Amino acid sequence: MRTYLVTGGAGFIGSNYIHYMFRKYNNEIRIINVDVLTYAGNLENLKDVEKRDNYTFIKADVCDKDAIAKIFEENDIDRVVHFAAESHVDRSIKDPEAFVRTNVLGTFVMLNCAKNAWMLEDGTFKEGKKFLHVSTDEVYGSLEDDGSYFYETTPYDPHSPYSASKASSDMLVRAYIDTYKFPANITNCSNNYGPYQFPEKLIPLVINNALQGKSLPVYGDGKNVRDWLYVDDHAKGIDMVHENGRLGETYNIGGHNEKQNIEIIHIILDTLLEMLPENDPRRAHISRDLITYVEDRKGHDVRYAIAPDKIKAEVGWYPETMFEEGIKKTIKWFFENEDWMKRVTSGDYQAYYEEMYK
Ligand code: NAD
Ligand code: DAU
Repeated sequence: MRTYLVTGGAGFIGSNYIHYMFRKYNNEIRIINVDVLTYAGNLENLKDVEKRDNYTFIKADVCDKDAIAKIFEENDIDRVVHFAAESHVDRSIKDPEAFVRTNVLGTFVMLNCAKNAWMLEDGTFKEGKKFLHVSTDEVYGSLEDDGSYFYETTPYDPHSPYSASKASSDMLVRAYIDTYKFPANITNCSNNYGPYQFPEKLIPLVINNALQGKSLPVYGDGKNVRDWLYVDDHAKGIDMVHENGRLGETYNIGGHNEKQNIEIIHIILDTLLEMLPENDPRRAHISRDLITYVEDRKGHDVRYAIAPDKIKAEVGWYPETMFEEGIKKTIKWFFENEDWMKRVTSGDYQAYYEEMYK
């Protein structure tokens, strides 16, 4: 049975990936989830899988080389999927240090422990071992509104401390591939949305605030463009690259779904009104009047857009969920998981929100 070591599996994309993998492979695989449980890590996201015999959770920091080396010593790991990161751009602008530590040092520790565990005496690697580094389109910088795209060959030009730390981590992976012929791939994905997304990010924040009649903060003029992908399509892409990608290669993942932020907010408001029952009292306060233009994000990238040509041609990946369907599934999930939202928005998040949007 193949053993996967997933880092950051208690976060948004990691937990969706774990669900996806168990739905697809059921008992054919084993997953070890390593997560230190920051504010963004929530074991509640995994309560459906926690009793499985083929799932193990280990609380550990990816920067802790002894703890990570021990996991490799005690388990014959076949695949690493490295999600663990500090992921929120606004937090990186306020406090970049954790981003450099986890995203750069943590990736180095993961790479080095995998290399030590997998390398044979002659410098080659054990058969079938593979490392997949989950990265972002933000490493490529910002596009103008001119129909251009990010390709795998686009030069790196990160602007925020978050994207700079992810770019650095990608460079380390590339260095391991070039220097040691380390068996790895990098995926650079566009903006994800879906269940379990922490409400500091645009889509869950707008859903949550609109349902409570709270203002919807729009940075700048609201015309910045992001390229949205339903999280299950990202999970599918990661799995397909692991299965069919050429080792050493980078693959961009994105679904040609570019939208201005203000458009996203309008769609969410319209969809909420379409989905809420006629007699639901929350309908009364859902309106475009909630939209509040606030100070722009520092260094705000204008537009992201992925060209997914390579992953389509080489790996056969394509996105299955259109935005209109994905946003309905996401809103339905948030309707059905109000308690999840209440729990994650209490405590520390309240303090962050007050400070961020004051
Ligand atoms: P997230 O913030 O929801 O989850 C991150 C997870 O990593 C959390 O469970 C957290 O506890 C864990 N973690 C953080 N620091 C850790 C450490 N030092 N040791 C162990 N675990 C640690 O993030 P996400 O949105 O799920 O993103 C996951 C990955 O995907 C990140 O690498 C991110 O850069 C990348 N990515 C995200 C998006 C997106 O739209 N969210 C798009 C492309 C790529
Ligand atoms: O592109 C991939 C990236 O997408 C990932 O690498 C990051 O981990 C992930 O957080 C996401 O980054 P963004 O900065 O694009 O996502 P966010 O949801 O924070 O913001 C989306 C857009 O909405 C962005 O242009 C900023 C804007 N925004 C965001 C918030 C939170 C607002 O206008 N108001 C807000 O309150």
